[in-house]
Amino acid sequence: MDFKIIQSTPIFNALSSLGKEISLPDGIFYWAGRAKKEAEILGTIGAAFGFEKDFIDGGSENWVPCYLDGIKEYSSLNISNIVPYASIGGVNELRDLWKTWIIEKSGYSKSSDKDKIDFLNKNISKPIITNGVTNGIFLAASLFLNPNESIICPNKRWGNYDLIIEKRIGAKIESFQFFENNRINLEGLKDSIEKIGNFQDKVVIILNFPNNPTGYVPKIDEADALISLFKKTQEKLRKPFIIIVDDAYEPYVYENNMLTHSIFYKLQQLKQDIIPVKLDGITKELLMYGGRIGFLTIGLKPSWVPNDEELNKLKNELHNKLKGMNRSTISNCNHFYQQLTIELFKDEGIEGIIEKRDKVKNLLERRYRIINEELKKIKDPDITIDPNSGGFFLFLNLNKDKIKATEFADHLLRNYKIGVIPIQKPQEDINGIRIAYCSIDIKDIPEFTKRIEQALKDF
Ligand SMILES: Cc1ncc(COP(=O)(O)O)c(C=O)c1O
Repeated sequence: MDFKIIQSTPIFNALSSLGKEISLPDGIFYWAGRAKKEAEILGTIGAAFGFEKDFIDGGSENWVPCYLDGIKEYSSLNISNIVPYASIGGVNELRDLWKTWIIEKSGYSKSSDKDKIDFLNKNISKPIITNGVTNGIFLAASLFLNPNESIICPNKRWGNYDLIIEKRIGAKIESFQFFENNRINLEGLKDSIEKIGNFQDKVVIILNFPNNPTGYVPKIDEADALISLFKKTQEKLRKPFIIIVDDAYEPYVYENNMLTHSIFYKLQQLKQDIIPVKLDGITKELLMYGGRIGFLTIGLKPSWVPNDEELNKLKNELHNKLKGMNRSTISNCNHFYQQLTIELFKDEGIEGIIEKRDKVKNLLERRYRIINEELKKIKDPDITIDPNSGGFFLFLNLNKDKIKATEFADHLLRNYKIGVIPIQKPQEDINGIRIAYCSIDIKDIPEFTKRIEQALKDF
């Protein structure tokens, strides 16, 4: 592939050396494709195939992927949808279904927002399947960051970002204080954007709402201010912005006056070279943590290309690079769970899935309300709760001069049999505990918070 189109777009300037270099070698695919059409006997596929009767007692005359007798008993899915490799970018049917799901998740109305839906449908890439959202983060970060380049992140973030970005890729995290007076700290973010944008030829940012570890979701006006900040700073710096949107907890927003849909959609609407990369997956959205199926989708800008033909070529070039990334790391993702997700969409439909998931969402929402109510009752000047209205967690800050988070977590565990995750990073001004209320039964919450209150008193 010659990558002619992508080279003329701002996204190319934002790619890392690896991102510029990577492609899917076409050797095997070229010969396999030709052989499919031209050969009488195929010796190209690197997976064992045979007549079922030759390896299974009582097997059929069908030519199928070889499998171990008994495997069929574990699932009613067809063996041909479980045993073979999935394609490198993921099973096409699932990629198409997920694109429809992404459009549905925008919340755009089919009657009044038809233009927005068409725009989205036309300008986002077809999702590439990744090994969970984690792998999507690694993939996106590797595609856009060279070692020693910086990505902007709030100080309160999922700890695995540090492992992926700093340790694995060797890039740097430019951290900003997430909150100022219980709102997103736009001044801090602006300073970071200007600092990085002044010497780096791109600005890369990662956002995660609802956030891990705080449960923060921007209010509508905060989200608008965030978008306006991106617009203004991009127009001033005139460099591409890559905004990686980690949507792991996308559906779990429990308040209506908040941004109830991913910020990806607002970013995608922007005319500026503000390029959103959406990472989502079945892990939390469809409650299949061990399935390891995630999706990476890029928002492209119509101004980059003169016509639809070039837009499609651009998408193909990007897909080729993303497939090259998959091929060189995980090769491809779990076929069984891809098929299971396809069947789920086919059997339940989008409404059916949402209806079933709402039962879990409602459960979590009730826990969210109770735990916030109970924590508010604790009148202790040494604690504050970060703004939270979604996701699986909330974060309780502890007075850093008096209570060390790890010591307090130890005290809670030893003396009160309460388990939480302490986060103590003085260099980033964090000292507190993350409470995963997603895993606490509602009736245990008052007892849980009572023990925290007691533990604060005798610490
Ligand atoms: C913010 C955030 N992003 C990504 C992930 C990982 O998702 P996955 O399990 O799909 O890799 C998690 C899981 O804890 C998370 O909290």
